[in-house]
Order: sequence, then C-alpha cells, then structure tokens
Amino acid sequence: VSSNPADASLDPWRTAITNSDDTGIWYRGYDVATLMRTSSFAEVVFLLHHGRIPTAGERRLIDAILIAVADHGPGAPSAVAMRTVATGNRQAPEAAIAAGVLAIGDAHGGAGLACLKIIGEALDRAKSDGQSLAEAADQVARDAAATRRRLPGFGHRTHSTDPRTVTLLQLAREERLAGPGVEFVVALERAVGDRIKPLPMNVDGAIAGVLYDLGFPPLVGKLIFIVGRVAGLGAQLVEEYTRERPMRVKVPVAYDGPAPRPLTEPEIA
Ligand SMILES: CC(C)(COP(=O)(O)OP(=O)(O)OC[C@H]1O[C@@H](n2cnc3c(N)ncnc32)[C@H](O)[C@@H]1OP(=O)(O)O)[C@@H](O)C(=O)NCCC(=O)NCCS
Repeated sequence: VSSNPADASLDPWRTAITNSDDTGIWYRGYDVATLMRTSSFAEVVFLLHHGRIPTAGERRLIDAILIAVADHGPGAPSAVAMRTVATGNRQAPEAAIAAGVLAIGDAHGGAGLACLKIIGEALDRAKSDGQSLAEAADQVARDAAATRRRLPGFGHRTHSTDPRTVTLLQLAREERLAGPGVEFVVALERAVGDRIKPLPMNVDGAIAGVLYDLGFPPLVGKLIFIVGRVAGLGAQLVEEYTRERPMRVKVPVAYDGPAPRPLTEPEIA
C-alpha cells in the first residue's frame, strides 16, 4: 500500500463491513445467503453497525425502533418534502425520496443524534463529578432553560404523550436492556418538566436512550431513523403517484412586497 498521497487513488478502500468474491457475499464475515435464511432485517442492521449478531432482546429493540419510525403520515416534514417533489417530478422516485431524507434533521427525526451526545456527555460528567443521574439530568435541564435552548428528544407538535416512547421504554425494560441511557432520558423528562415546562419525551429521545444502552455512537441516532422512515416515504410516494394529480400542491401565497412600478432611467443605467 502506497503512503504517497499522490497515489491515494491506487490504495484499496479499507472496510471491515462487507466482502464479496465471484460467488459469495459476507456481512461482517457472515454469509449473506445464510443470513437471508435465518436472520431478520433488524438483526442485519445491528450486525452491519455493531459487528455481531444481536441477542433476541437487542433484535426486538432494533425492530421496535424501525417500526416506530417507519411513518408518521403526510404532514411530517420529510413526507411534505417528498410529496412536493413527487407532485412536480413524476419520473424520478429517487429524487422524491432523497428530498424526504434531506428534510430529516435536528427538529424532525434527527434529534436522536444530539440527544445521544447529551446523554454521553452528561453521564461522563456525572461519573467524574460524582453526580447522581437525577442531578446530572437536572443540570442539563437548568442549562437549557438558562440559555433558552431546545433540548433534542423532547416536545412534539401533535402528541402530549408519544405512544412510541412509552412502548419502546417498556420493551427495553422487559428485555432487561434498559441501563443508564434509558434511566437518564427518563430523569431528564422529569427535570425538563420542573425547569422548563412539561414536555413529552419524543421517539427520538427514547431511541437515544435505548441506543446508548445498546452501545451505539450518536450518529446512529439519526441514521436508524432514516433507515426506518424510507419505508414509509416509499409507500407514500406510490400513493402520491397513483392516487393524486400532477402539480396538485398549491401553496397559498401572500405577497407583501412593492406594488408594480416603472423602472426609471438611472436604475436602468
Ligand atoms: C418538536 C418541536 C419542534 C415542537 O415544537 P412546538 O410545536 O413549537 O412546541 P410547543 O408548541 O409544544 O412548545 C413551544 C414552546 O416550548 C418550548 N419547547 C418546545 N420544545 C422544547 C424543547 N425540546 N426544549 C426546550 N423547550 C422546548 C419552545 O421553546 C417554545 O417556547 P416559547 O413559546 O417560549 O418559544 C419542539 O418540541 C422541538 O424543537 N423539540 C426538540 C427537537 C426534537 O426533539 N425533535 C424531534 C421531534 S419528534
């Protein structure tokens, strides 16, 4: 392998995830044909990211996350973006799906990433400062209140209780996989209620707590949402193409700029 940067294009791309030859494909060393016969999609998502086959409980939690985020109707920002593109460009489903994915971010579907960072930092600080979990959560809520920062993983436009959160946390406890991550987000929900205002933990917050306990890094908090939501966006795309008219989205517009006016000589010059 060359160490000369000029030869970089000749260097092989390193990967520890997937390998293949003329007749075989292996994910993390496991034969894809065997995985196809014996595993679920959720298990393979876990395997690809974590490098090992999950236990039955871990698989159940990943499955539950993927199901929880699979769809939330046409009003979710990613679905609005997808349908807006699909209504104007009916020849490129991939463009509409890509537009939907691009709408996933800090406010919609991607809050798990930032929430996982907060959990990790707060739990590290709690350990080094000898804080209890409740004290660490209270400090995060107090800091957010003082700086008027929105805490990722809390609040929802439509749910006063997010049914996905309730179920996911229950499942984590049933499977005996709820650890400091889950306990921290529960403590943070309480502290947010005390220090800011009662805000429900949303599905991104619950996913962050569970993924922390399963040993995933923050990035996966957003990536797993994308993996799941593409299923719902795809179904909605087919519905849009087959049931709706082209160019059906008509956004009401209120113009409040200048009235029509002549272009004067100095302006033309
Ligand atoms: C999801 C979200 C966009 C909903 O926003 P919304 O409909 O405007 O929220 P509400 O009407 O319930 O509440 C608005 C007020 O509560 C506050 N608030 C809402 N969510 C908050 C949060 N996560 N942390 C702190 N304060 C929050 C707002 O600052 C606002 O206060 P203000 O009126 O003084 O400006 C919002 O809760 C949010 O930004 N959450 C964090 C991002 C997140 O987790 N997104 C994933 C959603 S599944």
